[in-house]
This record gives sequence, C-alpha cells and structure tokens, in this order.
Amino acid sequence: MEQKIALIGFGTVGQGLAEILKNKKAELFEIYGYSYTIVAISDMKFGTVFDPDGLDMEKVMSEIQSTGQFSSNRMDWDAVETIRFCNADVICELAFTNLKDGEPALTHCTTAFQSRKHIVTSNKGPAALAYHQMKSLADKHNVLFMIEGTVMSGTPVLNLASGPLAGCQISAVKGILNGTTNYILTQMESGMSYESALQQAQELGYAEADPTGDVEGYDARAKVTILANVVMGVPCRIDEVDCKGITQITAKDIESAKAQGARWKLIGSVEMVDGKLSASVHPEMVSLTHPLAGIMGAVNAVTFTTDLLGDVTIVGAGAGKIETGFSILNDLLAIHKLSLPEDLS
Ligand code: HSE
Repeated sequence: MEQKIALIGFGTVGQGLAEILKNKKAELFEIYGYSYTIVAISDMKFGTVFDPDGLDMEKVMSEIQSTGQFSSNRMDWDAVETIRFCNADVICELAFTNLKDGEPALTHCTTAFQSRKHIVTSNKGPAALAYHQMKSLADKHNVLFMIEGTVMSGTPVLNLASGPLAGCQISAVKGILNGTTNYILTQMESGMSYESALQQAQELGYAEADPTGDVEGYDARAKVTILANVVMGVPCRIDEVDCKGITQITAKDIESAKAQGARWKLIGSVEMVDGKLSASVHPEMVSLTHPLAGIMGAVNAVTFTTDLLGDVTIVGAGAGKIETGFSILNDLLAIHKLSLPEDLS
C-alpha cells in the first residue's frame, strides 16, 4: 500500500529527505516494495501545499527555487491544520528544534497522534522534553512515535539499542553526540578560527537554526536526555543533565592539548552510579590514543557499556542534510514493514 506522507518543515532535513525519496524511488520499490506519495508540505517560509493524490515534487522544488514560495496546490492551512486535515498516514515533523518548551513541534506531534497519524521526527524537542508523554499518547491512539534521527542523525543508535542489543543490560552510554562542535574543534585544530569553523558548520547544514544550541552543549544535552529515557529506560529531565559547551575553548587550549598528545572533545555521557543516574555534557581533553580522539569532523561516536557484550561502539555521521534525511527514510521504511501482512515482510 502506498504510504502517504506530509512534511512539516521543509528546510535542510525535509529537502534532504525529498531528494533521497526521489533518487531512490525505484530502488525502494524494487527491494522493499515501498511506494510513497508526498501529499502535503507545510513550511513557515514557503507556505503550505496539498494534493490528496500526491504533489508533483519536481514542480514544488522548481517553484521554491524560482520564487521562494509554494504556488501550485497552495492552501491557507497552517502546520496544525495541515496535520489535522491532510490525508497523510505519516507526519514527518521536521520543524526547528526548540529545547525550551518544545514548541511548535510538541503541538505538531500531539495533533498528529490525536488525528491517528504516525510521527517520524529528527526534532529533539519532543523527544528530550516529553518522551514519555508523547509515547503514551501515540500508544493510546495506536500510532507510532519514531525518533531514530534525534541522536546521531541516520547512524543507528536508538535502533541499535532496542534491536541488535536487546537482551543486554546497558549501564552506560558515552560519546561524541554533536556534529557541529566536533567539526569546529577539528577545524580549529587545523588553524581555522572558531567563527569561520562555525560558519562552515552552518553552511554544511550541521548546525541548529540557532547554533547556540550546539556550541553551548544544549543539543548534546538533549541527546543525553533522550539516551537516558529511551535507551537506559530511566526517567531523566533535561535540566538534570550537567552541561558545559565549547565556547570557552580557545585556540591556545587546542595548541596546549596538542602539545600534551591530546585533543578536546565534547563528551556526552549517561551512566548508572550506585543505582543513580548520572548524566553530563562537557569538554574533555582525551589522549590521542583514546578511541574517541580519532573521531573527526561532523562524525559522532557512541559507546554502549553492556553486561553481555562489554563495550559496543558505533561510529557514523552525526549531522547533515542527507544523513538526517536518511534517518527519516529508515523510520518510514520501518512503518511500511509493520504495515505489511506478516508473510510478505
Ligand atoms: N546540530 C546537530 C549537530 C544536528 O550538529 O549534531 C544533528 O542533531
């Protein structure tokens, strides 16, 4: 059955997803029997478009490239009305992350669940601030809250913990969880200024709409909170995570670490200490021989400490247009697989 998708937010991630869906349309059908139509897009900048039979995405893209606005199939719905009234099965919530009160993404998610539509999102707001409420509401309405892209973009972290690591007890999760800051620290080590490195990270689509969230450690703190709640299964509020970013690291600090055979990394960690959860984000000077020292650029890495396997580390993309677009695709495919009759899946 064709999956009907609506995109709420059509910035870097939404356009990355649209590109992947277009380029892989035939392959996705051939290998997974997956077919889709994008029936609606609502974006603060471009407006809202809707066609219950599927939008002509070539036309949509050419319109925003030439006029900066959607024009054909335009509706006067806002995002909430789009979620409520469109005929999508799945809402991809791809609006900006707000870690203060989670809005407007929280309202987008609750509206979708109340309208019996699945949510797939890489937005850290709802997952970090209200994971348990969102999950319960989705369960109540018999739909899914899919959030793989909230931690390390498309690199499987949450799915790794719930799938291949099922049966292991995970007592700690630690790693480099923010692409922008790792990119900045890497570039500063090659002599680039902090400002230029941050600008590049923005241009490459790694940074948040407000990059303060990255450099002050708030983005990594949100991911640590998600890991605590989702992977460790321990309730944790975002304000319970100690947090310090990289803004106070100077070129001199970087040089001094180099001279000591070390390098700075922004480390996020969550672990059980004497039966209590301890969670933090802060810069650490790690020895060049430490496995995390070799993780450069926008690449991230996370180590799970388990009872049955010891340490298991996954290294991969932490941010980016296509990398995060892929996380959304992966969740869309998971929903498709769940909707197949068992003998076809
Ligand atoms: N701004 C985030 C980062 C995007 O740099 O890691 C991915 O969550």
